Amino acid sequence: MELARRVQQLPPYLFARISALIAEQRAKGVDVISFGIGDPDLATPDYILDSLKRAADVPANHRYPETEGLPEFREAVARWYARRHGVTLDPQTEVVSLIGSKEGIGHFPLVLVDPGDSVLITDPGYPVYEVGTMFCGGESVKVPLTEEDGWLPRLEDIPEDVARRAKFIWLNYPNNPTGAVADLAFFEQAVAWAKRHDVVIAHDLAYSEVTFDGYVAPSILEVPGAREIAIEFNSLSKSFNMTGWRIGMAVGNATLVDALRRVKSNLDSGVPQAVQQMAITALDGPGDSILAHNEVYRRRRDRAVEVLRALGLHVEPPKASLYIWARLPEGERSSADYAGRLIAQTGVVVTPGISYGPAGEGYIRLSLTLADDRVEEGLRRLASFARGEQVL
Ligand SMILES: Cc1ncc(COP(=O)(O)O)c(C=O)c1O
Repeated sequence: MELARRVQQLPPYLFARISALIAEQRAKGVDVISFGIGDPDLATPDYILDSLKRAADVPANHRYPETEGLPEFREAVARWYARRHGVTLDPQTEVVSLIGSKEGIGHFPLVLVDPGDSVLITDPGYPVYEVGTMFCGGESVKVPLTEEDGWLPRLEDIPEDVARRAKFIWLNYPNNPTGAVADLAFFEQAVAWAKRHDVVIAHDLAYSEVTFDGYVAPSILEVPGAREIAIEFNSLSKSFNMTGWRIGMAVGNATLVDALRRVKSNLDSGVPQAVQQMAITALDGPGDSILAHNEVYRRRRDRAVEVLRALGLHVEPPKASLYIWARLPEGERSSADYAGRLIAQTGVVVTPGISYGPAGEGYIRLSLTLADDRVEEGLRRLASFARGEQVL
């Protein structure tokens, strides 16, 4: 049996080495604390769960959904965009449901990429962007991001021929893994640049509601004329603690939305309707749960920043996202080595920045999505490690 090249080419699971160290520690009886995964520990709010329970009793919801989503779901998304972003969307043509935004992000390259085509991907970045392109036989061209530039790409520095050859570019603000944010002026420049070079923009807005200190994340569709060249992916996962329910949406350019719907209709049969009902309730709801959750993350963020600074890492408190992105102390070169030492000596797991691309080397990422007492214990161990004490 010979597996397809696309499977053989899947990037080696960079976390494998860390996983082995975790297993080793657990075998020794160490209580391992993981800041590795961005999956909210907080529960889906009760009023959203209640709508699922009601929807479970409706026989129509026991049957196949439509790929594009219920009209009521698409209308709720349009209402959300109008209220939250001041953007008017046609629910018939400019909205499609997704089985979580990851599904849409993974499948989107099928809409634009033929073998040999290229896609611009910011580095460091969410790994699914690159894999989706590789599955289509396309080439990912990395656009390196730097701390000095606030982790925003210098689009004007992309060589003319590289920009012209690219079918589309992935942008993601608020950003995973860096926690960086982009203002509307950045998106205005990006849209103008994309139009000049005939490049589509796919914007991933999955962290739009996880924001702190009064920051409000814009949608790229707030830029006049953006929908001529842009599609935006969003999700209920992080905004409403709904990672387990798998629902998101792609909105924007009608040709791209329709093409994605057509691709998907050949691969999946849509989001369970009862889950769409949850999403409608969430999107139309009061939004105070978002504020309450963000307050929890903000407290954890501030505590983590304090402890990481004591460890000699350079870190700025992010305005958004679930992540702390920290530069290794002077003299430390390998994020994987550093993460490995933390596990071995403290039983605390962080993600090496290299896992998100070569430009992530020299950094580590901590996710703030574990229960308060686990965050406290993890940070206590790191603080004690910083003081040179034996932790385990
Ligand atoms: C940047 C980014 N986009 C998209 C997703 C996918 O989220 P979901 O499929 O739950 O909507 C994630 C998940 O961690 C992410 O970090």
